[in-house]
Amino acid sequence: MPRIPRDIVDAVRDRTDLAEVIGRHVALSRRGKNFVGLCPFHQEKTPSFNVIPDKGIFHCFGCETGGDVFKFLMLLEGLSFVEVVKELAGPAGVTIEEREMTAAERRAMKQRATLFDVLTAASRFYEAELWTRASGATARAYLERRQIEEGTSRAAGLGWAPGGWTRLIDHLHKEGFSPEQIADSGLARPRQSGSGFYDTLRERLVIPIRDERGRTIAFGGRLLEGDGPKYLNTPETRLYQKSRVLFGLDVARAAIAKKGRALVVEGYFDVISLRQAGFEETVATCGTALTPDHLEKIRRLSRDVLLLLDADEAGQNAAERTLEAFVSASIQPWRVTVPGAKDPDELVRESGAEALEEALNRKQPLFEWVVSRRLDRYGTSSMSRERVLEEVLPLLARAKDDVLTFRVSARLGMSEAAVRKQLTEFERRPREPRASEASAGETAENRGWKPHVDMVHLLWLLVHHRDHVADLLVRADPSLFDGHAEVRPALARLVSGEPVATIIDETGDRGVKRTLLAVVARDSLYTAEQAPRAVIEILMRLTQPLRAARLAKLQEDVTRFEAAGQFDELQTTVREKMELQKREKALERALRESDLDGAMSLLGTP
Ligand code: UTP
Ligand code: MN
Repeated sequence: MPRIPRDIVDAVRDRTDLAEVIGRHVALSRRGKNFVGLCPFHQEKTPSFNVIPDKGIFHCFGCETGGDVFKFLMLLEGLSFVEVVKELAGPAGVTIEEREMTAAERRAMKQRATLFDVLTAASRFYEAELWTRASGATARAYLERRQIEEGTSRAAGLGWAPGGWTRLIDHLHKEGFSPEQIADSGLARPRQSGSGFYDTLRERLVIPIRDERGRTIAFGGRLLEGDGPKYLNTPETRLYQKSRVLFGLDVARAAIAKKGRALVVEGYFDVISLRQAGFEETVATCGTALTPDHLEKIRRLSRDVLLLLDADEAGQNAAERTLEAFVSASIQPWRVTVPGAKDPDELVRESGAEALEEALNRKQPLFEWVVSRRLDRYGTSSMSRERVLEEVLPLLARAKDDVLTFRVSARLGMSEAAVRKQLTEFERRPREPRASEASAGETAENRGWKPHVDMVHLLWLLVHHRDHVADLLVRADPSLFDGHAEVRPALARLVSGEPVATIIDETGDRGVKRTLLAVVARDSLYTAEQAPRAVIEILMRLTQPLRAARLAKLQEDVTRFEAAGQFDELQTTVREKMELQKREKALERALRESDLDGAMSLLGTP
């Protein structure tokens, strides 16, 4: 790994607002000094994901994922450590010297940056064509007809791809991009015959597709007149994968978290139009079905997902197919119909925001609607109803939602008890273990150090009340921790005052790492006043087996020397034994009298 100097890494971590960074991805609520939210790394219904800004650490008690801000972004965005540090360095006001990078790394960085650069330059070109050129007039008129305001269009970055075969390529070429780079970005395609490239999008209204962070990664192109497919998107690239991108999420992210709901629509224009009407919490796929990756992105922000699919058969079928993905993602989706309109865009345009809000209020659990739809299909005889139940049973079992079970039973015209009975029977059926239940590659051997309760408390005390306990611990006999060699380095580093985030970052042992994360996230085991005494008590407990063994050994010697008549040895051993017992008594007294200093001296020297 190319190294960024430790002090730089620490400085970036220090100056980065952890809660703010995580809050961009996870809806957090405050709990004292800390924050909690639903874990973005596993599926859960109650929050066990903790953010501890003080320590610069996040930790999930559910899936045991945790680490510092770098780790968070690495896991969430699939970036490398170096990339994450660099990304945060700017906002943190820390300069990273370029020469710290290897040549290969620099090349990769430049290439990545270039792809964004090409797309940004293209976007500027398309926008200029739309707003300042005669050829953009058709598109401007079109937008006006659709009642898309200029501010809305500009915010969405809409543009116009002119006709001619190489207008964009020529322009980008002048800006210094090579045809290969342009082709890599998906904006140009190689000619079938001969050499050279041509513009992917021509004579189309273009809609930039942006990633969650608002960077343009692709374009959709809508045909306004003439023949051809209504939409043409630039192809998938390194930056753009349809199955992972939700159109509009850059804008919607904050709104979803704030309003506590996400609206999922079918088309780009539904997103743009709903946004204009005040529903910024709207997203759409790029013409594909919703994938688990899509849902994962929404799930982090809100569990309330409202599907507003088109009224046509295709839209209905699409809705039905998404049910399983939703259940797997532990999201309870709602289905919303847009009465008297072909899509949500038409509804807000013709009837206004209130009409849409009303439609949203009439939402229905998608699950229930799927049941109704199948009843319509199969009929309502008791056999048909049994068949529908049998079909939805696996999903209903996975949803584990009493209200839903109740509603589905009612919809099926069956008693809740009867449905429950079938659910129980279903659960008993042998089944394949689900992927999520298989252990994620962690075996007993590589789980690392097995936490020991006293050691865990000691770590906690050091992490949270170092000022009150470090002095005591410095005096402890290192051999006390012989049984816990894996944590000893971490203990020593905590005692010396290193930031826990750094230690976690650099600890190789998975068990120690996991324990430290949990320790950081755990609040209030002891108050600062209780801390020193707690340390002594822990040390007492840790040394207890040693002290007991020593005493037992002496007692054994006493018996042996006595039997053998070795009186000199007996005398020494008895004196030794009494000495030891006296010390035990003194230790007890010191503790009773809260003479922690005295207790420590008695414990410290073996
Ligand atoms: P729609 O036809 O509903 O799109 O298709 P729309 O955005 O609402 O467009 P308007 O309102 O007619 O202008 C829904 C989505 O399906 C994809 C696009 O992502 C579109 O936004 N699609 C549609 C294609 O990829 N290709 C097509 O030919 C049509
Ligand atoms: Mn539409």
